[in-house]
Amino acid sequence: MTQTKPVKIGLLGLGTVGGGTISVLNRNATEIERRAGRAIQVVAASARDIHKPRDFSTDGIELMTRPEDVVDHPEVEVVVELIGGCDVAGEMVRRAIKAGKHVVTANKALIAHHGNELFAKASERGVMIAFEAAVAGGIPIIKTVREALAGNRVEWLAGIINGTSNFILTEMRENATPFAEVLAEAQRLGYAEADPTFDVDGTDAAHKLAILAAIAFGTPLNFAAVTKEGIDTLEAIDVENARQLGYRIKHLGIARWREQGLELRVHPTLVPASHILASVDGVMNAVLAKGDAVGPLLLSGAGAGAEPTASSVVADIVDVVRALTSDPENRVPHLAFQADSLNDVPVLPMQDTHCAFYLRLMARDRAGVLADVTDILRAISIEAIRQTETSGADEFVPVIILTQRIDERLIDEAIARIEALESVSGRVVKLRVECFDS
Ligand code: HSE
Repeated sequence: MTQTKPVKIGLLGLGTVGGGTISVLNRNATEIERRAGRAIQVVAASARDIHKPRDFSTDGIELMTRPEDVVDHPEVEVVVELIGGCDVAGEMVRRAIKAGKHVVTANKALIAHHGNELFAKASERGVMIAFEAAVAGGIPIIKTVREALAGNRVEWLAGIINGTSNFILTEMRENATPFAEVLAEAQRLGYAEADPTFDVDGTDAAHKLAILAAIAFGTPLNFAAVTKEGIDTLEAIDVENARQLGYRIKHLGIARWREQGLELRVHPTLVPASHILASVDGVMNAVLAKGDAVGPLLLSGAGAGAEPTASSVVADIVDVVRALTSDPENRVPHLAFQADSLNDVPVLPMQDTHCAFYLRLMARDRAGVLADVTDILRAISIEAIRQTETSGADEFVPVIILTQRIDERLIDEAIARIEALESVSGRVVKLRVECFDS
């Protein structure tokens, strides 16, 4: 039954997601109230420039420049943190918890770096921190892994979890648009982070993977253990070679449970063009999770943007409103598993991770050179080898090699020996290949 007294929200940040959240709450107010059981009202919001013209209505919202004034606002019961970063945002979230206010946040960096501390503080104070919008924008992946897969042992998950990188890779592949141009467009569309370095160097995806892995495997958050590579070092020639070989390059976050420990890694990855993840293009994200009971499960949707992200923020607000009167001991645990049941499973060094590889090298176009290279790789099963040009003379030409699955340590040892050959010039480019068939 709907109560007459609305739940009062304080919003920190009136950027892309803040605007989307206000628009969605206004447009769907009746539906949201019918679901939550109470009306939801944004009473105060903070922004650096409160006079800036905006394309959404702030009518009825008290605008403030100091976020602490929103947190301290006597009517605010739930603080929605959309500032980003760890400094001011972290300070505000700690302040809200201390004041006994619930928190909804889209801040993956804050959760990945400080989630263990913040969740402990929130549990002590009996308040909730909801963070669905922190991972994969509009896709309800946190709720799915944390609640819907509660009966499973999650074996692995792999996801396209940075919309900006996926957008850039799609444009590079389909229209050969230069990297800088596509990145500027992603910024204009509000997909990219305030500092887009985090999108293209893999940091943003690593934040999200750390969160997904913790709730999938029941471990504390461990961002420092995620190995990250971004799309910023990727060369257009490898995007094209992958296409010719029947693959697409996707920037993936991969978390895998193995007997020896966890694999936690984000990097550009060749996936077969026929694989379902290969067709997830543009700003779309997708997460493929394998549970022992459910089997493989795919969730896909917009990974960034105002209203898709607001969809997750508002769903979290509704969840918090529904749980306001519940016993704090009986709420869904922040990291899916009860806080005293988290296991500190070791994370494998990258050298001990296991996958197939794409290698590109420049080798002299003369008899015996490929034999020298394959001799070094003799203990490694080769899937394909291709010289992509001929020089007709003793010049350096590109050679592509696809290997079968092997420990990263062994491929690195082989690469070092290949690079030392007199008939090979420069560095060997190494990219990882995943088929997700096991
Ligand atoms: N910059 C992020 C992305 C926004 O491109 O995916 C959503 O977290």
